[in-house]
Amino acid sequence: MIDKDKRHLWHPFTQMQDWLRNDQLVIERGDGSYLYDTDGNKYIDGVSSLWVTVHGHRNKIINKAIKAQLDKVAHSTLLGLGNVPSIELAKELVKIVPKGLSKVFYSDDGSTAVEIALKIAFQSQQQTGQRKKTKFITLKNAYHGDTIGSVSVGGIDLFHKLYRPLLFKSIKVPAGDPKALEAVLKKRHHEIAAMIVEPLVQAAAGMLLQPKGYLKAVRRLCTKYNVLLIVDEVATGFGRTGKMFACEHEGVSPDLMCVAKGLTGGYLPVAATLTTEKIYKAFLGRPEENKAFFHGHTFTGNPLGCAAALASLQLFKQDKLLNKVGRSIKFLETALLDLYKLERVVEVRQLGLMVGIELGGYSAAERIGHRVILEARKRGAILRPLGDVIVLMPPLNIKRAELEKLLRVTYDSIRAVTER
Ligand SMILES: Cc1ncc(COP(=O)(O)O)c(C=O)c1O
Repeated sequence: MIDKDKRHLWHPFTQMQDWLRNDQLVIERGDGSYLYDTDGNKYIDGVSSLWVTVHGHRNKIINKAIKAQLDKVAHSTLLGLGNVPSIELAKELVKIVPKGLSKVFYSDDGSTAVEIALKIAFQSQQQTGQRKKTKFITLKNAYHGDTIGSVSVGGIDLFHKLYRPLLFKSIKVPAGDPKALEAVLKKRHHEIAAMIVEPLVQAAAGMLLQPKGYLKAVRRLCTKYNVLLIVDEVATGFGRTGKMFACEHEGVSPDLMCVAKGLTGGYLPVAATLTTEKIYKAFLGRPEENKAFFHGHTFTGNPLGCAAALASLQLFKQDKLLNKVGRSIKFLETALLDLYKLERVVEVRQLGLMVGIELGGYSAAERIGHRVILEARKRGAILRPLGDVIVLMPPLNIKRAELEKLLRVTYDSIRAVTER
């Protein structure tokens, strides 16, 4: 398998020269919180297969829902037609998202959900007589995906700098500083269409937490200066922070909200951009007025994905999952303190079931994060670092004993590598 992989595949965010030189794992199956490789070895999925797995792998209820949908139809387009699961899912989503969001536009992943939010914000300003409002405010260190539009509102130099000649310019403000934001809004609000934020935590930047009240202040300032607020809940949505959406911690309703990753329980690529009645109405008119939103991906509203998402939302209720998550969060709050016994752990940041453990005193060339996750594999856990930050994002329904094991492996792996 791995020979064929090395011959034919190009892996994302991966220096392939390094990949080709080293041993690699190939995953064959999953079960609950565990992944199994082709040699039958078992690993805790400590990052929920890139922050998506909600109810564990091979969940019976979601499997059954997908199989039942498969017996009806696997795919049918939303361009000019409706399909049953996409309608049912939209109805369910509107019930659980922050108040005021009433329309659902589907796509495939976080990046496309963000692209859509940016285009809707821009077009709605254009179509309501605010033609000069063409720019976006974004946070320093932001990450909203890898397509050109979402990179344009990103702020992680390592990923984004090279592409600068291809990007549209956005206005960057420091995260967590409402005064700096107001200074920009005061001067330039007439040219700003929208502001985009990751709520409460900048995940890909290394789990950087925002001060309490910041999101609320952003909402207040966007309203005051007539700028639309886009909240990117791609990483934080669907229970990850302890509430269904991070916005709820601060009682905030955005004008546009992006969701993806956990929407289908982490099973299939479905994303959605939700918006208000007011923004939706800016797109209404006679066909010849050309006010429609000219955007749509081939697999938009895919029935299999929507069926998985419906089953996932059902499981949240049935399993009282948010209560379980609350208990895991409480346990982590004290258990994580142990990590400070390790000399090179400089900070442990936690929001719900999102954890970043920052290791200090290493150069980028030492690749300390990478070395720690290789050590963790030997001890039975799959992790993926963000530079020198070790990330933990277990499935939301992880059992207490599994969570304890994940923490033990993380502790031992950091210790083994940093004290070696
Ligand atoms: C906040 C946020 N937005 C957008 C994205 C992009 O999502 P995708 O990788 O599904 O395109 C990510 C991915 O990690 C993310 O964390």
